Amino acid sequence: MFSPSSTKAAWWLATFFSVFVTGEMPIQAELEPEFLQALENHTVTQGRDVHFTCVVNHLSNYRVAWIKSDSKAILAIHTNMVALNPRLSVTYNNHNTWKLHVSNVQANDSGTYMCQVNTDPMKSQMGHLSVVIPPDIVDSVTEGSSAQEGGSIRLTCTATGVPPPTVLWRREHNRPIVFRHDGGRERKVVDSHKGETLELAHVQRTDMGAYYCIASNGIPPTISRRYHVEVHFIPQVKVTNQLVGAPLGSDVELQCFIEASPKAMNSWYREDALLSDKLTENPKLRVSETIMNEYSLWINLTIKSLAPADYGTYVCASVNALGKMESQVSLHRLELSMNGFGAEEPMVSGAAWQRARNAPSHRARPAASHAHQYFLTQHLPPQLYALLLTVLRYIHSF
Ligand SMILES: *[C@@H]1O[C@H](CO)[C@@H](O)[C@H](O)[C@H]1NC(C)=O
Ligand SMILES: *[C@@H]1O[C@H](CO)[C@@H](O)[C@H](O)[C@H]1NC(C)=O
Ligand SMILES: *[C@@H]1O[C@H](CO)[C@@H](O)[C@H](O)[C@H]1NC(C)=O
Repeated sequence: MFSPSSTKAAWWLATFFSVFVTGEMPIQAELEPEFLQALENHTVTQGRDVHFTCVVNHLSNYRVAWIKSDSKAILAIHTNMVALNPRLSVTYNNHNTWKLHVSNVQANDSGTYMCQVNTDPMKSQMGHLSVVIPPDIVDSVTEGSSAQEGGSIRLTCTATGVPPPTVLWRREHNRPIVFRHDGGRERKVVDSHKGETLELAHVQRTDMGAYYCIASNGIPPTISRRYHVEVHFIPQVKVTNQLVGAPLGSDVELQCFIEASPKAMNSWYREDALLSDKLTENPKLRVSETIMNEYSLWINLTIKSLAPADYGTYVCASVNALGKMESQVSLHRLELSMNGFGAEEPMVSGAAWQRARNAPSHRARPAASHAHQYFLTQHLPPQLYALLLTVLRYIHSF
């Protein structure tokens, strides 16, 4: 090994002899080391590899060193590593190019790196390394939340990343987010909400569903998390018509609309039947469900070819953890009218009229007649009602 001073002495000796022999100073001896290009700045995603390139001409016997300038730590001299960091290495192309490699870049590798030559005064140049980190969502807490109608729900989404991510809340299917203030009297409707927490006060059943927290900071990939919001309430049960008249032998459909959350047990039963009498076991009857959304559905009861025993009171009921609600339909018999109009079109009130299976009502005008019927069914005995209905429909058909 040569010490730097002995190397230098030897170099001067060589120069002396070359001057002595040729009578000229070698051109190289006058040239100081110089950098050929600036050190780069890098923005790198955590986990990737990166390198700085330092190109020095006329280095002669000087040495290139790499220094982390914020910590003043010497990382490497020539191709010898000084820092005890296995992710750092230096390569030299045996000409004029030195490279400092940083593999699997970490957040604490950010900072200013210096390529230095040990002239006096020393020469150096600097480059910056910024390490960026894609967003992550760090909450370990529950991903769903529930409240009773009128209560509050608070969702939190803590995001990390470099630079710090922006957190945005959205609802599934682009449904609007509704903020209610002042006990629900004031509403603010938005498509998205910015911030790590989403606070829903005075929640309503329409607020139910999936919410997404989306964290982004310009470094892919953007990340999102799904939260499920559930709003609980006592079931709500509504039959389309409380009074339904239908003639013997016809089919009738009783319609019932239910809203419930959490999920409810829904059923139709005969008010005057024994508890053990299951409607579903009667082959003349069919209950069909139409799901409208997460918390509402129709359950329609179809009774085929009405027999005298089928008339009576039917109950549509729904029960969940918060309570039970029911609604009744009184199904009564309509006599076929004598005057010929009704003979081909048995009269059935309300929706049942529109749906009576064995009574195709091509001449019926349900939209126009509906209001009359409904009013009448509340106040008249069925026989009189049937008669009036015939008159009304006779008028309507002109
Ligand atoms: C690197 O960044 C510094 C400071 O932001 C700037 O002065 C310098 O010119 C940049 N270097 C290059 C090669 O772009
Ligand atoms: C930098 O971070 C890495 C990974 O988090 C760690 O292993 C290393 O010890 C840290 N180095 C310093 C100097 O803090
Ligand atoms: C039940 O009745 C409602 C209201 O008329 C209707 O929208 C729904 O399609 C019906 N469901 C079935 C299965 O017939």
